[in-house]
Amino acid sequence: MAKNVVIVGAQWGDEGKGKVVDILSEYADVIVRFQGGNNAGHTVIVEQEKFILHLIPSGILRKGKKCIIGNGVVVDPAILLEEIDMLLAKGQFQDSSNLLISEDAHLIMPYHKKLDVVRERVRGQYKIGTTGRGIGPAYEDKVARCGIRCGDLLREEVLRGKLKTNLLEKNHLLQNIYHEDCFAMHDIYEQYISYAEKIAPYITNTSIYLDEAIKAGKRILFEGAQGALLDVDHGTYPFVTSSNTVAGEAATGSGIGPTKIDKVVGVSKAYTTRVGEGPFPTELKGEEGMRLREQGGEYGATTGRPRRCGWFDAVAGIYSARINGLDGMILTKLDVLDNLDKIMICIGYRYDNNILKDFPSDSDILNKCEPVYEIMDGWKEPTSNVTKFSRLPKNAQKYIKRLEELIEVSIIIVSVGAGRKEAIMIENPFQ
Ligand code: IMP
Repeated sequence: MAKNVVIVGAQWGDEGKGKVVDILSEYADVIVRFQGGNNAGHTVIVEQEKFILHLIPSGILRKGKKCIIGNGVVVDPAILLEEIDMLLAKGQFQDSSNLLISEDAHLIMPYHKKLDVVRERVRGQYKIGTTGRGIGPAYEDKVARCGIRCGDLLREEVLRGKLKTNLLEKNHLLQNIYHEDCFAMHDIYEQYISYAEKIAPYITNTSIYLDEAIKAGKRILFEGAQGALLDVDHGTYPFVTSSNTVAGEAATGSGIGPTKIDKVVGVSKAYTTRVGEGPFPTELKGEEGMRLREQGGEYGATTGRPRRCGWFDAVAGIYSARINGLDGMILTKLDVLDNLDKIMICIGYRYDNNILKDFPSDSDILNKCEPVYEIMDGWKEPTSNVTKFSRLPKNAQKYIKRLEELIEVSIIIVSVGAGRKEAIMIENPFQ
């Protein structure tokens, strides 16, 4: 029986991890976010009510679950407090002791958000298409060893000192390179001290907490954000986010050893989407893409941007299975394909008179790849009410089996709608 399960996005994010984590958190005691920040938007629908969570693990929507924001996350305190207030107002945050925030998680500061936006502006046509939430600049400071951490909020003198040093450099950059206004030390300091008062009760050593939970035999669900193809090392660089989004980060970003992880499960849509810039071989640029977008409600949960849509890419799927070490895959939004006559699956890339079976690491090459498709018949029947695999239309079963065969990973859950109950559980990763 698996006790500690990692859930990661297997594509370019937005695979429906929020819903999956919400379903699986029923079987977990602790739910941990381990990377990213409020660039993520995890949508969960509970009894017709829609929740979009950017920072707090989706497990908060189930009573009695401990939710942890791990050291690998970058925290914008204003967004965190907004999220807590939203949950309080909706009666979903009865017990504040259920949220713990790592003292080692780095803070997103106002200058990070400003730098994110102005750098995108300067990049012009070469922009990355970031969410503008300051994620990249916050991780830059972490790696440059000048970042300010949640624990620093509890020590006023440390906060003041670090802020002063950082502002010297950031204001110089903003003023002289980007011709922007400077930030006043006093304003930021006062603002962050006021956040500190409200956030202090949640800040703790979450690595120790997790170690004790593991020793006590608790079940832990590690909730990834974004997706493998946005990983800063393994994704479509430079069109990636600034953290490691693959399963290995579940250990580093939460302060447990990798030997404590029992199972790694990927989440993938039954087709593919992407927001922001960067290569996307199976993208459908015409009417078919627009139809998928409308049918699937493919608009960003964080920025509202329309998502680019395309067919399932098995080359990317195989790659994602490899770099994450997937034990299983969860397929979401199968119902979005219900009305199609024909469904395509990309099984290779045509590049320079060759057929590539391996996902190329160079984004320029990937941009020039033409997908090689296998065509399958659609099922033309609604699937949203189906709760058993054997009750799915035969062609839908064939499609799922074919995807499994191509990516060499078992599909263990199929999601057929937005609600909690609209899912076919073939195998529970915790059992
Ligand atoms: P950043 O994470 O805001 O720096 O954005 C970098 C890239 O990652 C952009 O292409 C974003 O659209 C993409 N991205 C970041 N977070 C998400 C997410 O949660 N879902 C999908 N794409 C994301």
